[in-house]
Amino acid sequence: MKAVVITVLGGPEVLQVQEVEDPELKDDEVLIKVEAAALNKLDSFQRQGVFAPPQGASPYPGLECSGTIEAVGGHVSRWNVGDQVCALLSGGGYAEKVAVPAGQVLPVPPGISLKDAASFPEVACTVWSTIFMIHGGSSGIGTFAIQMAKYWGARVFVTAGSEEKLAACKDLGADVCINYKTEDFVARVKEETGGKGVDVILDSLGQSYFQRNLDSLNFDGRLFLIGTMSGSVTELDLRVVMSKRLTIQAAGLRVRSPENKAVIIREVEKNVWPAIVAGKVKPVIYKHFPLTEAAEAHRLLDNSQHIGKILLFP
Ligand SMILES: NC(=O)c1ccc[n+]([C@@H]2O[C@H](COP(=O)([O-])OP(=O)(O)OC[C@H]3O[C@@H](n4cnc5c(N)ncnc54)[C@H](OP(=O)(O)O)[C@@H]3O)[C@@H](O)[C@H]2O)c1
Repeated sequence: MKAVVITVLGGPEVLQVQEVEDPELKDDEVLIKVEAAALNKLDSFQRQGVFAPPQGASPYPGLECSGTIEAVGGHVSRWNVGDQVCALLSGGGYAEKVAVPAGQVLPVPPGISLKDAASFPEVACTVWSTIFMIHGGSSGIGTFAIQMAKYWGARVFVTAGSEEKLAACKDLGADVCINYKTEDFVARVKEETGGKGVDVILDSLGQSYFQRNLDSLNFDGRLFLIGTMSGSVTELDLRVVMSKRLTIQAAGLRVRSPENKAVIIREVEKNVWPAIVAGKVKPVIYKHFPLTEAAEAHRLLDNSQHIGKILLFP
């Protein structure tokens, strides 16, 4: 089969489509003929050598995909050949075929095209296990989180780095849109909440936002940390955490076991898929690229000009 290979660690130009061995199918896995794979920031970190896939995972990038089941392992009962699905992967989505534990597979939600379904697994699983002030509101994660938070009736605050991105967040339902380049988000949060602060923050920046996140939280507030794009080392004044009874929780999909991922996948199917079927949560897809243009797609991802998800298709 053809797959996108990281030939050496480096910039987008190191991505090349090559002929590689088909994946081997284990008893608890299904083999998917890929229709589309979605890009994630972590793919870029893998390409640069900042993140290494877990032991035993495919060496090719791609943490989520959609497609048609081509074969099922001996121990799989839920899925059949020909089923149209999307899946949370440990790697290998940028390819014509990928093998994945059956527990990490979801049906394509009715009303969503097979290709667009590739944009859901990663964001749905991350957002389900976290959420409601959202930094990086226009990111793949952010655009999904806004819609889910509104579906659950939350008042949603977002930060983003341009007026165009903030307008997109507003269109998706965000209530308070803050340009972090021109505004102090702590001051704005306080102003909008009568001095109280927000109840939940979904943050992927880490270091540079840490203290300001604590300052933006209400009593009993919760900070979900899902990334460290601005750095990972910071000081923590425990008195702030204690005086406001704050909870700080890190949420990493990558480090979860297949069994644990399967639990989240089933919760997503039960709780998030109905919102998609009802048209309350829609795929936000910026651009599609063929597999042969993976490097171009990664240039776009690295420049952070996009709003929502970027997809690759074989
Ligand atoms: N823990 C988990 O399980 C998990 C799962 C999925 C993703 N993540 C993390 O979530 C984050 C978003 O992922 P994604 O794939 O959705 O990303 P994405 O679509 O590439 O978007 C990232 C956005 O972050 C903003 N950004 C980047 N650098 C920034 C900086 N220094 N300061 C402020 N904003 C910055 C940019 O928007 P602006 O123009 O507004 O700055 C950019 O659009 C990443 O850190 C990723 O690793 C974690």
